[in-house]
Amino acid sequence: MPTRVTAAITAVGAFLPEDKLTNADLEKMVDTTDEWIRTRTGISERRILKGVGRGTSEMVAPAVKQLCEKRGIDPKEIDCLIVATVTPDMVFPATANIACEKIGATNAFGFDLSAACSGFLFALSQGAALIESGRYKKVVVCGSDKMSSIVDYTDRTTCVLFGDAAAAVLLEPNTEGYGLMDSILRSDGSGANYLRMKAGGAKYPASVETVMAKEHYIYQEGQSVFKFAVKGMADVSAELMEKNNLSANDVSWLVPHQANLRIIDATANRMGLSRDKVMINIQKYGNTTAATVPLCLWEWEKQLHQGENIVLAAFGGGFTWGATWVKWAYNS
Ligand code: UT7
Repeated sequence: MPTRVTAAITAVGAFLPEDKLTNADLEKMVDTTDEWIRTRTGISERRILKGVGRGTSEMVAPAVKQLCEKRGIDPKEIDCLIVATVTPDMVFPATANIACEKIGATNAFGFDLSAACSGFLFALSQGAALIESGRYKKVVVCGSDKMSSIVDYTDRTTCVLFGDAAAAVLLEPNTEGYGLMDSILRSDGSGANYLRMKAGGAKYPASVETVMAKEHYIYQEGQSVFKFAVKGMADVSAELMEKNNLSANDVSWLVPHQANLRIIDATANRMGLSRDKVMINIQKYGNTTAATVPLCLWEWEKQLHQGENIVLAAFGGGFTWGATWVKWAYNS
Protein backbone atom coordinates (compact mmCIF):
# COMPACT_ATOMS: atom_id res chain seq x y z
CA MET A 1 0.00 0.00 0.00
CA PRO A 2 1.49 3.38 -0.96
CA THR A 3 1.69 5.84 1.96
CA ARG A 4 -1.07 8.44 1.95
CA VAL A 5 0.23 11.96 1.42
CA THR A 6 -1.73 14.57 3.34
CA ALA A 7 -1.40 18.36 3.32
CA ALA A 8 -0.14 19.53 6.71
CA ILE A 9 -0.25 23.09 7.96
CA THR A 10 3.38 23.81 8.86
CA ALA A 11 3.34 27.57 9.55
CA VAL A 12 0.89 30.42 10.11
CA GLY A 13 1.30 34.16 9.47
CA ALA A 14 -0.96 37.18 9.78
CA PHE A 15 -1.21 40.91 9.28
CA LEU A 16 -3.46 43.28 11.20
CA PRO A 17 -3.64 46.98 10.29
CA GLU A 18 -2.70 49.27 13.18
CA ASP A 19 -5.77 51.54 13.09
CA LYS A 20 -8.66 50.53 15.34
CA LEU A 21 -12.32 51.41 14.85
CA THR A 22 -14.04 51.04 18.22
CA ASN A 23 -17.71 50.86 19.13
CA ALA A 24 -17.28 54.31 20.70
CA ASP A 25 -16.05 55.63 17.32
CA LEU A 26 -19.09 54.10 15.59
CA GLU A 27 -21.44 55.69 18.14
CA LYS A 28 -20.27 59.03 16.74
CA MET A 29 -20.79 57.96 13.11
CA VAL A 30 -24.21 56.24 13.11
CA ASP A 31 -27.22 55.76 15.39
CA THR A 32 -25.88 52.84 17.41
CA THR A 33 -24.58 51.97 20.87
CA ASP A 34 -21.70 49.96 22.23
CA GLU A 35 -24.26 47.92 24.17
CA TRP A 36 -26.26 47.00 21.02
CA ILE A 37 -23.17 45.99 19.08
CA ARG A 38 -21.70 43.88 21.88
CA THR A 39 -24.92 42.08 22.82
CA ARG A 40 -26.06 41.42 19.21
CA THR A 41 -22.67 40.55 17.70
CA GLY A 42 -19.95 40.23 20.36
CA ILE A 43 -17.77 42.87 18.63
CA SER A 44 -15.95 45.67 20.50
CA GLU A 45 -13.46 46.89 17.89
CA ARG A 46 -12.05 46.15 14.44
CA ARG A 47 -8.92 47.00 12.44
CA ILE A 48 -9.04 49.26 9.39
CA LEU A 49 -6.43 49.57 6.63
CA LYS A 50 -6.27 53.31 6.12
CA GLY A 51 -4.66 55.25 3.28
CA VAL A 52 -5.47 55.91 -0.34
CA GLY A 53 -4.38 53.27 -2.85
CA ARG A 54 -3.80 50.55 -0.30
CA GLY A 55 -5.37 47.24 -1.25
CA THR A 56 -5.76 43.69 0.02
CA SER A 57 -2.37 42.62 -1.40
CA GLU A 58 -0.73 44.99 1.10
CA MET A 59 -2.05 42.78 3.89
CA VAL A 60 -1.43 39.47 2.10
CA ALA A 61 2.25 40.24 1.48
CA PRO A 62 3.32 40.79 5.13
CA ALA A 63 1.22 37.83 6.31
CA VAL A 64 2.96 35.49 3.82
CA LYS A 65 6.38 37.02 4.56
CA GLN A 66 5.88 36.35 8.27
CA LEU A 67 4.93 32.76 7.57
CA CYS A 68 8.08 32.26 5.45
CA GLU A 69 10.27 33.72 8.20
CA LYS A 70 8.67 31.48 10.83
CA ARG A 71 9.22 28.38 8.68
CA GLY A 72 12.68 29.52 7.59
CA ILE A 73 11.95 29.37 3.87
CA ASP A 74 12.61 31.75 1.01
CA PRO A 75 9.48 33.05 -0.79
CA LYS A 76 11.08 31.67 -3.97
CA GLU A 77 10.33 28.18 -2.61
CA ILE A 78 6.56 28.80 -2.75
CA ASP A 79 4.92 26.82 -5.58
CA CYS A 80 1.49 28.41 -5.39
CA LEU A 81 -0.35 31.19 -3.52
CA ILE A 82 -4.13 31.05 -3.29
CA VAL A 83 -5.81 34.19 -1.95
CA ALA A 84 -9.38 33.83 -0.76
CA THR A 85 -10.99 37.25 -0.95
CA VAL A 86 -14.09 39.20 -2.02
CA THR A 87 -12.19 42.47 -1.91
CA PRO A 88 -9.41 41.99 -4.46
CA ASP A 89 -7.13 44.94 -5.25
CA MET A 90 -8.81 45.06 -8.67
CA VAL A 91 -11.25 42.89 -10.62
CA PHE A 92 -8.14 41.69 -12.45
CA PRO A 93 -5.32 40.82 -12.25
CA ALA A 94 -5.60 38.53 -9.25
CA THR A 95 -4.50 39.85 -5.87
CA ALA A 96 -2.44 36.67 -5.46
CA ASN A 97 -0.31 37.65 -8.48
CA ILE A 98 0.26 41.14 -7.11
CA ALA A 99 1.16 39.76 -3.68
CA CYS A 100 3.61 37.22 -5.19
CA GLU A 101 5.42 40.11 -6.85
CA LYS A 102 5.52 42.05 -3.56
CA ILE A 103 7.06 39.17 -1.61
CA GLY A 104 9.42 37.94 -4.31
CA ALA A 105 7.65 34.61 -4.81
CA THR A 106 8.98 34.50 -8.35
CA ASN A 107 8.56 30.75 -8.83
CA ALA A 108 4.92 30.66 -7.72
CA PHE A 109 1.71 30.73 -9.68
CA GLY A 110 -1.19 32.37 -7.91
CA PHE A 111 -4.90 32.86 -8.15
CA ASP A 112 -7.80 34.31 -6.18
CA LEU A 113 -10.78 32.34 -4.94
CA SER A 114 -14.14 33.91 -4.23
CA ALA A 115 -16.28 32.22 -1.60
CA ALA A 116 -16.82 35.11 0.82
CA CYS A 117 -16.61 34.10 4.48
CA SER A 118 -16.07 30.44 3.56
CA GLY A 119 -13.25 31.43 1.21
CA PHE A 120 -10.45 30.17 3.44
CA LEU A 121 -12.05 26.73 3.81
CA PHE A 122 -12.65 26.45 0.07
CA ALA A 123 -9.08 27.60 -0.70
CA LEU A 124 -7.61 25.25 1.92
CA SER A 125 -9.32 22.34 0.21
CA GLN A 126 -7.89 23.40 -3.18
CA GLY A 127 -4.42 23.93 -1.72
CA ALA A 128 -4.52 20.52 -0.05
CA ALA A 129 -5.50 18.88 -3.35
CA LEU A 130 -2.43 20.44 -5.02
CA ILE A 131 -0.20 18.94 -2.30
CA GLU A 132 -1.98 15.56 -2.32
CA SER A 133 -1.48 15.36 -6.11
CA GLY A 134 2.25 15.11 -5.46
CA ARG A 135 3.05 17.89 -7.93
CA TYR A 136 3.58 20.71 -5.43
CA LYS A 137 5.53 20.90 -2.16
CA LYS A 138 4.77 24.34 -0.76
CA VAL A 139 1.35 25.89 -1.20
CA VAL A 140 0.31 29.03 0.70
CA VAL A 141 -3.38 29.61 1.39
CA CYS A 142 -4.28 33.13 2.51
CA GLY A 143 -7.61 34.59 3.60
CA SER A 144 -7.64 38.36 3.30
CA ASP A 145 -10.27 41.05 3.02
CA LYS A 146 -10.26 44.81 3.18
CA MET A 147 -13.92 44.95 4.13
CA SER A 148 -13.68 48.68 4.85
CA SER A 149 -13.45 49.18 1.07
CA ILE A 150 -17.03 47.89 0.55
CA VAL A 151 -18.69 49.00 3.80
CA ASP A 152 -21.12 51.93 3.83
CA TYR A 153 -20.19 53.81 7.00
CA THR A 154 -23.61 55.47 7.07
CA ASP A 155 -25.43 52.10 7.25
CA ARG A 156 -25.61 51.03 10.89
CA THR A 157 -26.85 47.54 10.01
CA THR A 158 -23.56 46.57 8.32
CA CYS A 159 -20.82 49.05 9.28
CA VAL A 160 -20.53 47.76 12.84
CA LEU A 161 -19.79 44.21 11.69
CA PHE A 162 -16.67 44.18 9.53
CA GLY A 163 -12.91 44.70 9.78
CA ASP A 164 -9.74 44.28 7.71
CA ALA A 165 -7.05 41.58 8.08
CA ALA A 166 -5.01 38.88 6.39
CA ALA A 167 -3.85 35.49 7.63
CA ALA A 168 -2.14 32.64 5.82
CA VAL A 169 -1.05 29.04 6.27
CA LEU A 170 1.70 27.04 4.58
CA LEU A 171 0.76 23.56 3.36
CA GLU A 172 3.42 20.87 2.90
CA PRO A 173 3.24 17.13 2.18
CA ASN A 174 3.06 14.85 5.22
CA THR A 175 3.19 11.07 5.47
CA GLU A 176 2.67 10.78 9.24
CA GLY A 177 -1.07 11.31 9.22
CA TYR A 178 -1.18 15.04 9.99
CA GLY A 179 -2.94 17.76 8.05
CA LEU A 180 -6.24 18.14 6.28
CA MET A 181 -8.18 14.94 6.89
CA ASP A 182 -11.64 15.69 5.50
CA SER A 183 -13.83 18.55 4.41
CA ILE A 184 -17.48 19.10 3.56
CA LEU A 185 -18.09 22.21 1.47
CA ARG A 186 -21.41 23.50 0.17
CA SER A 187 -22.85 26.38 -1.82
CA ASP A 188 -26.30 27.71 -2.76
CA GLY A 189 -26.57 30.60 -5.21
CA SER A 190 -30.05 31.57 -4.00
CA GLY A 191 -28.23 33.10 -1.05
CA ALA A 192 -27.25 36.00 -3.31
CA ASN A 193 -30.71 37.42 -2.63
CA TYR A 194 -29.73 38.07 0.98
CA LEU A 195 -26.04 38.99 0.86
CA ARG A 196 -24.23 40.58 -2.07
CA MET A 197 -22.60 43.61 -3.66
CA LYS A 198 -25.20 44.66 -6.17
CA ALA A 199 -23.06 46.41 -8.80
CA GLY A 200 -19.53 46.53 -10.11
CA GLY A 201 -19.60 43.12 -11.79
CA ALA A 202 -20.58 42.05 -15.31
CA LYS A 203 -24.31 42.22 -14.54
CA TYR A 204 -24.36 45.86 -13.46
CA PRO A 205 -21.01 47.47 -14.30
CA ALA A 206 -20.06 50.58 -12.35
CA SER A 207 -21.89 53.68 -13.55
CA VAL A 208 -22.82 57.06 -12.10
CA GLU A 209 -26.24 55.57 -11.30
CA THR A 210 -24.87 52.54 -9.43
CA VAL A 211 -22.54 54.73 -7.40
CA MET A 212 -25.34 57.20 -6.56
CA ALA A 213 -27.53 54.25 -5.50
CA LYS A 214 -24.74 53.01 -3.17
CA GLU A 215 -24.65 49.66 -4.94
CA HIS A 216 -20.93 49.14 -4.47
CA TYR A 217 -21.37 48.44 -0.79
CA ILE A 218 -22.32 45.26 1.05
CA TYR A 219 -26.04 44.57 0.97
CA GLN A 220 -27.17 42.17 3.71
CA GLU A 221 -30.54 41.06 5.05
CA GLY A 222 -29.07 40.30 8.44
CA GLN A 223 -31.87 38.29 10.02
CA SER A 224 -32.29 35.95 7.04
CA VAL A 225 -28.54 35.38 6.78
CA PHE A 226 -28.44 34.77 10.53
CA LYS A 227 -31.02 31.96 10.28
CA PHE A 228 -29.22 30.25 7.36
CA ALA A 229 -25.84 30.68 9.08
CA VAL A 230 -26.90 29.13 12.39
CA LYS A 231 -28.32 26.08 10.65
CA GLY A 232 -25.68 25.79 7.92
CA MET A 233 -22.60 26.04 10.10
CA ALA A 234 -23.97 23.83 12.89
CA ASP A 235 -25.35 21.14 10.54
CA VAL A 236 -22.22 20.78 8.45
CA SER A 237 -19.95 20.66 11.51
CA ALA A 238 -22.08 17.92 13.07
CA GLU A 239 -22.14 16.05 9.74
CA LEU A 240 -18.35 16.18 9.48
CA MET A 241 -17.97 14.75 13.00
CA GLU A 242 -20.49 11.99 12.36
CA LYS A 243 -18.93 11.05 9.01
CA ASN A 244 -15.50 10.68 10.64
CA ASN A 245 -16.68 9.14 13.93
CA LEU A 246 -15.40 12.10 15.91
CA SER A 247 -17.00 12.65 19.32
CA ALA A 248 -16.90 15.96 21.20
CA ASN A 249 -14.09 14.49 23.33
CA ASP A 250 -12.00 13.83 20.23
CA VAL A 251 -12.13 17.48 19.14
CA SER A 252 -9.62 19.82 20.82
CA TRP A 253 -10.70 23.02 19.10
CA LEU A 254 -13.51 24.51 17.05
CA VAL A 255 -12.27 27.33 14.81
CA PRO A 256 -15.43 29.10 13.69
CA HIS A 257 -15.91 31.95 11.26
CA GLN A 258 -16.30 35.09 13.38
CA ALA A 259 -19.51 36.74 12.15
CA ASN A 260 -21.62 36.70 15.27
CA LEU A 261 -21.03 35.28 18.74
CA ARG A 262 -24.54 33.83 18.77
CA ILE A 263 -23.84 31.81 15.57
CA ILE A 264 -20.57 30.56 17.08
CA ASP A 265 -22.33 29.47 20.28
CA ALA A 266 -25.03 27.63 18.33
CA THR A 267 -22.40 25.68 16.37
CA ALA A 268 -20.40 24.79 19.49
CA ASN A 269 -23.56 23.62 21.29
CA ARG A 270 -24.55 21.43 18.35
CA MET A 271 -21.07 19.83 18.41
CA GLY A 272 -21.26 19.36 22.18
CA LEU A 273 -18.23 21.57 22.79
CA SER A 274 -17.79 23.89 25.75
CA ARG A 275 -16.70 27.52 25.24
CA ASP A 276 -13.13 26.80 26.37
CA LYS A 277 -12.62 24.69 23.23
CA VAL A 278 -13.79 27.43 20.89
CA MET A 279 -11.48 30.06 19.39
CA ILE A 280 -13.17 33.45 19.68
CA ASN A 281 -11.54 36.78 18.79
CA ILE A 282 -14.53 38.53 17.19
CA GLN A 283 -14.45 41.12 19.98
CA LYS A 284 -11.08 42.43 18.75
CA TYR A 285 -11.31 42.15 14.98
CA GLY A 286 -15.00 41.84 13.98
CA ASN A 287 -15.86 39.92 10.83
CA THR A 288 -12.80 39.93 8.56
CA THR A 289 -14.55 37.63 6.03
CA ALA A 290 -11.96 35.21 4.54
CA ALA A 291 -9.38 36.04 7.22
CA THR A 292 -11.29 35.03 10.37
CA VAL A 293 -10.41 31.31 10.49
CA PRO A 294 -6.65 31.54 9.76
CA LEU A 295 -6.45 34.59 12.05
CA CYS A 296 -7.69 32.39 14.91
CA LEU A 297 -5.12 29.69 14.06
CA TRP A 298 -2.42 32.38 14.12
CA GLU A 299 -3.55 33.73 17.48
CA TRP A 300 -3.91 30.29 19.12
CA GLU A 301 -0.87 28.71 17.42
CA LYS A 302 1.17 28.40 20.64
CA GLN A 303 -1.68 26.51 22.35
CA LEU A 304 -1.97 23.92 19.57
CA HIS A 305 -0.28 20.54 19.86
CA GLN A 306 0.74 17.91 17.36
CA GLY A 307 -2.02 15.37 16.78
CA GLU A 308 -4.89 17.51 18.04
CA ASN A 309 -8.14 17.35 16.07
CA ILE A 310 -9.34 20.77 14.99
CA VAL A 311 -12.60 21.55 13.22
CA LEU A 312 -12.74 24.70 11.08
CA ALA A 313 -16.26 25.92 10.25
CA ALA A 314 -17.61 28.79 8.18
CA PHE A 315 -20.72 30.29 6.62
CA GLY A 316 -20.94 33.23 4.27
CA GLY A 317 -22.07 34.99 1.13
CA GLY A 318 -23.08 32.85 -1.80
CA PHE A 319 -24.34 31.22 0.29
CA THR A 320 -21.22 29.18 0.94
CA TRP A 321 -20.50 27.06 3.98
CA GLY A 322 -18.45 24.16 5.18
CA ALA A 323 -16.47 22.36 7.85
CA THR A 324 -12.95 20.96 7.68
CA TRP A 325 -11.15 18.47 9.93
CA VAL A 326 -7.44 19.14 10.45
CA LYS A 327 -4.97 17.09 12.49
CA TRP A 328 -2.50 19.66 13.78
CA ALA A 329 1.06 18.86 12.66
CA TYR A 330 3.46 20.63 15.03
CA ASN A 331 4.21 22.07 18.45
CA SER A 332 5.50 25.64 18.37
O1 UT7 B 1 -20.21 36.64 7.62
C1 UT7 B 1 -21.11 36.54 6.57
C2 UT7 B 1 -22.42 36.06 7.02
N1 UT7 B 1 -23.08 37.05 7.81
C3 UT7 B 1 -23.60 36.74 8.98
O2 UT7 B 1 -23.44 35.63 9.44
C4 UT7 B 1 -24.41 37.79 9.70
C5 UT7 B 1 -25.69 37.20 10.19
N2 UT7 B 1 -26.57 38.17 10.80
C6 UT7 B 1 -26.32 38.73 12.01
O3 UT7 B 1 -25.29 38.47 12.60
C7 UT7 B 1 -27.38 39.59 12.65
O4 UT7 B 1 -28.57 39.48 11.90
C8 UT7 B 1 -26.99 41.10 12.74
C9 UT7 B 1 -25.90 41.28 13.77
C10 UT7 B 1 -26.53 41.61 11.37
C11 UT7 B 1 -28.20 41.93 13.21
O5 UT7 B 1 -28.68 41.43 14.45
P1 UT7 B 1 -30.22 41.06 14.63
O6 UT7 B 1 -30.38 40.61 16.02
O7 UT7 B 1 -30.61 40.11 13.55
O8 UT7 B 1 -30.91 42.47 14.45
P2 UT7 B 1 -32.03 42.88 13.42
O9 UT7 B 1 -31.47 43.01 12.05
O10 UT7 B 1 -33.23 42.01 13.62
O11 UT7 B 1 -32.39 44.33 13.96
C12 UT7 B 1 -33.03 44.54 15.24
C13 UT7 B 1 -33.20 46.01 15.46
C14 UT7 B 1 -33.81 46.75 14.27
O12 UT7 B 1 -34.63 47.76 14.78
P3 UT7 B 1 -36.22 47.59 14.84
O13 UT7 B 1 -36.65 47.34 13.43
O14 UT7 B 1 -36.45 46.40 15.74
O15 UT7 B 1 -36.68 48.88 15.41
C15 UT7 B 1 -32.63 47.37 13.59
O16 UT7 B 1 -32.96 48.52 12.85
O17 UT7 B 1 -31.90 46.61 15.66
C16 UT7 B 1 -31.75 47.70 14.75
N3 UT7 B 1 -30.34 47.83 14.41
C17 UT7 B 1 -29.46 48.51 15.16
N4 UT7 B 1 -29.63 49.23 16.30
C18 UT7 B 1 -28.52 49.81 16.81
C19 UT7 B 1 -29.69 47.27 13.37
N5 UT7 B 1 -28.39 47.60 13.41
C20 UT7 B 1 -28.24 48.38 14.51
C21 UT7 B 1 -27.12 49.00 15.11
N6 UT7 B 1 -27.31 49.69 16.25
N7 UT7 B 1 -25.88 48.94 14.58
